[in-house]
Order: sequence, then C-alpha cells, then structure tokens
Amino acid sequence: MEFTYYGHACFAVKVGEKNLLFDPFISSNELAKHIKLDKIKCDYVLISHGHEDHLVDAEQILKRTNATVVSNYEIATWFASKGVEKYHPMNYGGKWKFDFGSVKFVKAEHSSMLPDGTYGGNPGGFIVKTNDGNFYYAGDTALHSDMKLIGEFEKINFAVLPIGDNFTMGIDDAIIASDFIECNKIVGVHYDTFPYIKINKEEAVNKFAKRGKELILLSVGETKIL
Ligand code: NI
Ligand code: MN
Repeated sequence: MEFTYYGHACFAVKVGEKNLLFDPFISSNELAKHIKLDKIKCDYVLISHGHEDHLVDAEQILKRTNATVVSNYEIATWFASKGVEKYHPMNYGGKWKFDFGSVKFVKAEHSSMLPDGTYGGNPGGFIVKTNDGNFYYAGDTALHSDMKLIGEFEKINFAVLPIGDNFTMGIDDAIIASDFIECNKIVGVHYDTFPYIKINKEEAVNKFAKRGKELILLSVGETKIL
C-alpha cells in the first residue's frame, strides 16, 4: 500500500485505485505549508474524532472531490448538515464493507468536540482490511488495554500510532501499544506540530529499534510503500 504523510496526523493510503485520506489538517499546519491541498486526490476521508487538528480541511476537500466522509455518527452527520453529500456514520465495534475493503471503528481513549462546540461523539480509530493488507490507525488515544483485542483477533501489517505525548500516548506507551496489537511496523504521527508535542525523533526510533520494532517517521509530503 502506498502511504503518504501530510503532517501531524494526516496521511493518505492508496488501496488499489482508491485513495483514503485520514484526519486532514494541512492548511493550518506550519510544517505542511508546501503541501498543495487542491492537488490531493481522495475517494474517502476518514476522521477519527472532532478536534480541529484532525478535520480543519475536511469540508473543503470533501466538497471538491465529492469523497465520502467516514467517521462516527455525530461527525458524519455534522458534515452532512454542512452540505457534504456522501457520508457514512459508524460507531464502536461496527464494521462496514466499502469498495476498497472493510473498516471497523474501534475505541480510542480521548475526547471529541467539534470546532463549533457541537458534541463530537466518541473518539475512535480504524482497522482497515483490504486485499493488499491490513492496517490500524489508532487516532488520538491513550494506551488502553482493548488494544490487546486487536492483537488477539486481527492481523495488522502496519499501524499508525500517535507518539507526541501530552495529548496522546508518548513513545514509551506507543511501544507497549505495538506489543498489544502485535505489530512491529509503526508509523508515528501527532508529533512536532506544536510545542507540547515536540519529540526527539532519533531517540524515538532507537527506543523502538531496541525492542525489535521499526518506527517509521516520514517527512511531510513523503510517500512510502508499506
Ligand atoms: Ni484530539
Ligand atoms: Mn489531535
């Protein structure tokens, strides 16, 4: 699968001919000024929770591309109320088969209020299963023991985990999370964007390596086959 990092917790995964975009936050990200928002192709926009740093560009992208927004019920219908035509609401534990594969919406330990103060439902993560492989995006979350269920019952080829600490897991808890989900290939997100979440990247990569795990930290705009 072709993985492109757009900074913060925004990334795209190309599955077959379909482009999946996660948590679009580009125009307000100082580290992503070189990314051309209007050039991003997408068929689906998956949003983990209602915080601004996960959806600031979503409405614009959804309306330009006519993509489908996939999120929890509250967020999906919030976009519908703004005139987004294609939306797919989900809730914890639910799975749906799309044309690129299946998506399961799973628990995250965080909060979720939309930018205008609307209740944003429960924050979540996604388990995406496709013919090209499976991946897990945890969303913004603390380490939590339900991640063990993913390790026990799902086969994950790579996982996208927050590592910036303060608002989410930090590096040490992300390593434990990778044990829980039984996945040794981790893409780190949600770091360096703001002063609260600045990390030492070399130290982070080394800590994962010491546990026999690969922490992949991409530069903004970089694409890698995973
Ligand atoms: Ni958040
Ligand atoms: Mn966040």
